Amino acid sequence: MAREQFGICAEPNLHGSYLLFNVLDDKNAFIRAALSRLPALFDDYADRYSEANLIGVVAIGAAYWDEFYPQARPDSLAPFPAMHSGDRVAPSDSYDIYVEIRSDRADVNHIVSTKICQLFAESVELSEQIQAFRFLDGRDLTGFVDGTENPQGLHRREVALVKEQDQPLFAGGSYLHVQRYEHNIRLWNSLAEHEQEDVYGRTKYDNIEYKSENKPLTAHTKRTSLKDENGNSLEILRQSMPYGDMKRKGLFFVSYCHSPKPFELMLKSMVHGDGEGHSDHLLKYTQAETGAAFFAPSLNFLKALAE
Ligand code: HEM
Repeated sequence: MAREQFGICAEPNLHGSYLLFNVLDDKNAFIRAALSRLPALFDDYADRYSEANLIGVVAIGAAYWDEFYPQARPDSLAPFPAMHSGDRVAPSDSYDIYVEIRSDRADVNHIVSTKICQLFAESVELSEQIQAFRFLDGRDLTGFVDGTENPQGLHRREVALVKEQDQPLFAGGSYLHVQRYEHNIRLWNSLAEHEQEDVYGRTKYDNIEYKSENKPLTAHTKRTSLKDENGNSLEILRQSMPYGDMKRKGLFFVSYCHSPKPFELMLKSMVHGDGEGHSDHLLKYTQAETGAAFFAPSLNFLKALAE
C-alpha cells in the first residue's frame, strides 16, 4: 500500500517554512532525481533533531506536472481556480515545486530549507518563501482559533489522501491548494469583538461555535460548511499557518484533499456567495495575494522517480 508523505496529515507545529520554486528549462531530469531524495533528507534531519518533530511535504505544480512526469497525470489536477466577484479576488499563480517544512524549531527549519536550496542548486528559481509560526493557542492573526473543525485522527487520511481504488498510481497522494492571504489588521481591529465573532460564526476567546440559527449567512464557517448532493459534509484538511512581520500580516492557507473539488466549492462559496448576495465577510478584512494548485505524490511515487 502506498505511504503518504507524513507531513500531510501531521499535527500542527510551532514553525513553518514554505518554499515555492520554478524550475529552469532542461532541468527536469535533475529535479526528478532531487525530489526522489527529499523524503530521505527529511528523515535524516528528523532523526538528527528528534525533539523538533520535523516533517516535510513536497508537491508538484499543476502546470509543471506534464513536463515533470509525462507518463501519467493525477486525473483531477488542474490550475488554481481563479475567482473574482465585486472586490473579492482569488488570484491564480503558477509554481512548479512546493516544499513545506514544519517543525518546533525555527533553526531546524532554516537548516533544512538551506539544504533543499543547495540540493536544487542552479536548476530552480525560488519564487516565494514564507516563514510562518504558531500564534498563541493555534490562532490566526485575527485572534480566532484556526483548525478546530479540521478532521481528526484517522479521518484526516480519509479526507486528505487519494484512495487506491480511485487512482492506483497516485494513491496516498493529495491535491494541494495554497493561498497567501494578507490581512487588513487595522480595519479588523476597528470592529467590536461581537462583530468579529459574527464574521466567523464563532466566539473569540473560548472558540465556541454559534448555534446554527444565530450564524449569519455571511459568516466564514457558514460559507465553508458545505454538503454534497447526498447530504455528506465536504471536507478538506487545513494546515495553514500565520506569517508576518511589522509590515504585512496574514495567513498562509494550505488545503490537502483527496480531490480538488471541495476546496474549489468552498472558495466559490466564499467569493461568489450563495447566489442570494451572501458572500464571506472575512474577505472584507483579508485578501488573497497568491493562489496555486499542486499534487503531493506518495512516498512510493517519489522513491520510484530514481529508478
Ligand atoms: C474554519 C480562519 C480561509 C475553509 C475557519 C475558522 C477560522 C478560519 C478561524 C474557525 C475554526 C476552525 O474550524 O478552523 C480562516 C482565515 C482564512 C481562511 C483567517 C483566510 C485568511 C479559508 C479558505 C477555506 C477555508 C480559503 C477554503 C476554501 C474553512 C473550513 C472551516 C474553516 C472548511 C471549517 C468550517 C466548519 O465546519 O465550521 N477558518 N480561514 N478557510 N475554514 Fe477558514
